[in-house]
Amino acid sequence: MSGSALFETFSRAPLAFDHGEGSWLVTDKGERYLDFAGGIAVNSLGHGHPHLVAALTEQAAKLWHVSNLYEIPGQSRLGERLADATFADKVFFTNSGAEALECAIKTARRYHFVKGHPERFRTITFEGAFHGRTLATIAAGGQYKYLEGFGPKVEGFDQVGFDDIDAAEKAITPETAAILIEPVQGEGGIRPVPAQSLKRLRQLCDQHDLLLIYDEVQCGIGRTGKLFAHEWSGVTPDIMAIAKGIGGGFPMGACLATDEAAVGMTAGVHGTTFGGNPLAMAVGNAVLDVVLEEGFLEDVQRKALLIKQGLAAVADEFPEVIEDIRGTGLMLGLKCAMPNAKVNMALRDQHLLAVPAGDNVIRLLPPLTVTDAEIHDALDRIRAGAKGLVEAIASAAAK
Ligand SMILES: Cc1ncc(COP(=O)(O)O)c(C=O)c1O
Repeated sequence: MSGSALFETFSRAPLAFDHGEGSWLVTDKGERYLDFAGGIAVNSLGHGHPHLVAALTEQAAKLWHVSNLYEIPGQSRLGERLADATFADKVFFTNSGAEALECAIKTARRYHFVKGHPERFRTITFEGAFHGRTLATIAAGGQYKYLEGFGPKVEGFDQVGFDDIDAAEKAITPETAAILIEPVQGEGGIRPVPAQSLKRLRQLCDQHDLLLIYDEVQCGIGRTGKLFAHEWSGVTPDIMAIAKGIGGGFPMGACLATDEAAVGMTAGVHGTTFGGNPLAMAVGNAVLDVVLEEGFLEDVQRKALLIKQGLAAVADEFPEVIEDIRGTGLMLGLKCAMPNAKVNMALRDQHLLAVPAGDNVIRLLPPLTVTDAEIHDALDRIRAGAKGLVEAIASAAAK
């Protein structure tokens, strides 16, 4: 017995937060932490954003849940707005990122099924990917640490190296249905995929009648300074999974697709009890109100430059701690020169919250509403954390 009734699946920091205010989290003891973890890119508009709180409480007083057996006006509205803002014609709402990916993968398989090719069910994915924790999405992610002990890997996923488009081409067989990629890998270590590579993947998909699926669960909804990260490349997918930021902290996700790609998703073939519920839709619409406001995304781009320049200066000052700065927009990574867990602890000691990622990286995912003053504050904390680590190394060496 560990003393807790909870599954031991999370190694939690010894911190309990009582409430949030914008970019800040406040513990039950009243200590304030600058939140550049943002629930891992979930709290896109920070904590307690007045427009989101109003939307949620207004909806809560009216109607919480109604089955998808009925019309849900907030759902139609959000679906139309997402379609208007993207390549997509159709949207299916889910409760999480993994479910949005499940829907995306199923949509691709059904496309080939209704076109008379049920044998085309395989999806090509990339090393370092993370697509969720369901049985199919751990198979898609292909990471042994998430697959181990859960029985046979779900069939139908072929993985190639990160950004290895030649290998992706070679991996295409008569059974391939789709290629699935995060335009910016999140948990893989904040690794943007070059625009040229996305272009080549689009060409491969067009040549072989494959569906191109983007996972923008982490990098979407303004995170990179455009509504969706792939907009920087100008290369659109056929299907896209989103979640996290669109709910601003309320659990929700969505699978977006073109009419053509969604051709197999007919009545009864897929479903959800909670996906697209009125509360989630009220918040999702409210998030879009803010993110699509004129000048909002341009300001994200401006702030991204400010923080990136500041981080580059800190990295120059402390090369023993930070090797490189990566990422785009407000989705940034510190490639660490020492174990990232140590750097993360040092930042936490400075009351700055960040998230470790693969490839020995620390992710910085501040709210899109972060202020310039908070960016400078975070840079000071990172500098102080790095200085402390360097001093600790020096004093250990002197002993
Ligand atoms: C890129 C990406 N895809 C999918 C997921 C899975 O989302 P969820 O945890 O909501 O199922 C995540 C979560 O971190 C993610 O970062």
